[in-house]
Amino acid sequence: MGFPSTRMRRMRRTETLRSMVRETRLSPSNLVLPLFVVEGTSVREPIVSMPGVHRFSVDHVVLEAKRVADLGISSVILFGIPDGKDGHGSGADAEDGIVQRATRAVAEAVPELAVMTDVCLCEYTDHGHCGLLDGEEVDNDASLERIASTALSHARAGASVIAPSDMMDGRVAAIRGELDANGFEEIPILSYAAKYASAYYGPFRDAAESAPEFGDRRGYQMDPPNRREAMREMRLDLEEGADMLMVKPAMAYLDILADARREFDVPLAAYHVSGEYSMIKAAGERGWIDADRAMEEALVSIKRAGADLILTYAAADIAEKL
Ligand code: PBG
Ligand code: ZN
Repeated sequence: MGFPSTRMRRMRRTETLRSMVRETRLSPSNLVLPLFVVEGTSVREPIVSMPGVHRFSVDHVVLEAKRVADLGISSVILFGIPDGKDGHGSGADAEDGIVQRATRAVAEAVPELAVMTDVCLCEYTDHGHCGLLDGEEVDNDASLERIASTALSHARAGASVIAPSDMMDGRVAAIRGELDANGFEEIPILSYAAKYASAYYGPFRDAAESAPEFGDRRGYQMDPPNRREAMREMRLDLEEGADMLMVKPAMAYLDILADARREFDVPLAAYHVSGEYSMIKAAGERGWIDADRAMEEALVSIKRAGADLILTYAAADIAEKL
């Protein structure tokens, strides 16, 4: 039955009516806040390319973690920015490495928070690639051992969830095996399963000082035009033992997220990455867009497309509003 008996506007008339039939809602418990950790003390340094985002020393990251837990956020994901880098990414699995110390400190001070850790070598290698090099190539199988060892060091430090982002083949199985062999059967893996070689990571690479010295990441991250391939990546990671799957970036890949939602019954995460965040902030600073509304609209679209969890630099701002 069409117009005039059907009038779609009836249920849009007031905020009360709109709210009653709203299909998607953001909740702070579904938001994961990424945090960058640096050496030193009392550091709370703004990141120029990401307005509102900071690099924290371990003491300050604990304060920030407490603050966001009080806002109802359930989880943070930690990224380490070490002082020294080398060819093997030795800092990545150091017992006393930057992420390991931050994880220990946050897990102890804010036990209600799920501390996720990003497992990758690119912040720790002097060449900035996500695995070990053999000449100019990233050596998949040689990298697996380093990545599994990094994951184990995070679990030992008290991480609640391990999130590998390197895109090496077989890394989920390698990590699962290493965790299980060392008594960490209970620690879940959130796999960055469909991670694309995206221009939207630009601000993050400044923030984390992790841009590759030469070449790019197209030899291991996914080719943006590919959709079916993402389903294969995700299926393989589930077979290897992933507990949750991630699509990254989020907004340019909502079709992938929606496909994944239909295809898999596991929890799905989407990463609203640095470039997606900073575009909105930059346009807001210029007065071209209402940044707060645009951010919320962006995150709602990601949830509507099928994400259970959203990794976003705006997590605390949004939680404050909810
Ligand atoms: C490390 C990693 C990256 C991001 C998350 N983990 C950068 C990259 O792959 O180059 C990007 C996050 C963002 O842009 O917000 N592999
Ligand atoms: Zn990496």
